[in-house]
Amino acid sequence: MKMKNQYEIILNEKEKADVRVVFIPNKQLPNEEIFKTFNYKGEGSFFDQSKMILYWGIKEMQKDYLREAGCQISRYFENYAFKSFELECCEDLETMRALVLGILLGGYSFDSYKTKKKENVLKQVFLKEAKKCKITQEDIQELQIIAQAICDVRDMVNTPPQDATPEFLAQWGRNVASQNNITCKILDEKDLEKEKMGAFLAVNRASVHKPRLIHLSYQSKNPRAKIVLVGKGLTYDCGGLSLKPSDFMVSMKADKSGGCAVIGILQAVAALQMEVELHAIVGATENMIGGNAYKPDDVLFSREGKSIEVRNTDAEGRLVLADCLSYAQDLKPDYLLDFATLTGACVVGLGEYTSGIMGYNEELKTRFEEDALRSGELVAKLPFNRHLEKLIESKIADICNIASSRYGGAITAGMFLGAFIREEYKDKWLHIDIAGPAYVEKDWDVNTYGGSGAGVRACVEFIKNIVKKV
Ligand code: BES
Ligand code: ZN
Ligand code: ZN
Repeated sequence: MKMKNQYEIILNEKEKADVRVVFIPNKQLPNEEIFKTFNYKGEGSFFDQSKMILYWGIKEMQKDYLREAGCQISRYFENYAFKSFELECCEDLETMRALVLGILLGGYSFDSYKTKKKENVLKQVFLKEAKKCKITQEDIQELQIIAQAICDVRDMVNTPPQDATPEFLAQWGRNVASQNNITCKILDEKDLEKEKMGAFLAVNRASVHKPRLIHLSYQSKNPRAKIVLVGKGLTYDCGGLSLKPSDFMVSMKADKSGGCAVIGILQAVAALQMEVELHAIVGATENMIGGNAYKPDDVLFSREGKSIEVRNTDAEGRLVLADCLSYAQDLKPDYLLDFATLTGACVVGLGEYTSGIMGYNEELKTRFEEDALRSGELVAKLPFNRHLEKLIESKIADICNIASSRYGGAITAGMFLGAFIREEYKDKWLHIDIAGPAYVEKDWDVNTYGGSGAGVRACVEFIKNIVKKV
């Protein structure tokens, strides 16, 4: 696999790197004259040029802090011409793995649309004393694969909507499928008609770009479970006739983040050769306006057979997902997960750093929550209830695409999707609303401006634990 935006991580290199990085946890500075001279108190960073040591203040040697520090250190070196830096390993493997992932993710930049590109001089990171935490070459390779998948997802999400059309996403799917054991099936408009995906097709109608349903599947030799992932792939969401205000439209190229995430997850799982059968299904389309646009008041017929009253064309993701989830259930999954930038309400409720987990199975939600948090992604469970469910009833169709109340919008959207999950899959399904963390306006944690790759780390960890347990 071709690696880009990435450094070489080298274990136990004998040679010295250009710079040594030393962490200063909780301002516990060694008693050295130079700190006093330069009035460094252990916060932020301090570069001792005489010894070529970069001191890096950190709250504590805990993995979430080190992941973030790793990312910031990477970015620090972007401004210098050093070729390598070295770090001494700490005792804990999980902490070291987090640090390495942070370093790899910090190397990401998106400059495809810059006419002048910046060259990153930093090429190598040496991990000294690797025996302390027993980090291995396999650990490094696994982290590189995950980082690569996240960076590919970021590239896709960041690609402007004039280029990142449904067919462009499909082409990425075909490229991913050139890896071992992955097949790729692309359904076009005619296929969607044959599949009776009336809801999906309605959303696409006013777009000049034809829709695509991208279906990637990976199968190992002795799969321990069948997992189907579904992603919202809105390559642009202007709101349709229920047009978004201009300020809210900016960044809606990122409404394909869920779809990109599921492709990235499949790419990583396949490269890691996990023992699983994994499917990634992306509903790719734009939501645009025009004389043939679907309208508030229209009634759509979904693949599941349920009729849907449209009262707001900006609640389009759930329409696309309803049909994709229907298709997904035909594959008879053991686990069915969807990832979507579904609601602004989820961002209002949880803040922009946290994804919402919804579903009917408490135990499954808790498992995903624990795996996600361990992977370094912030998530929280949002509870369904029967009172909110009443809010999406329709007077003229089987269900309405928006709730009658403005409160609890993330949950009512989740319950709308739930209405398209058949009884036998209700306990196998999770809906992850990534509207908050999928797109980053201001750098935070391991995320730089633009697409973050939200969902990838969490879901890879979730699958890893399924494969391990069974
Ligand atoms: N793609 C948006 C949700 C969104 C908003 C994602 C902000 C990321 C950031 C979605 O299609 C949408 O517009 N949802 C509406 C639903 C409403 C009309 C019920 C929303 O959240 O306002
Ligand atoms: Zn919308
Ligand atoms: Zn949307």
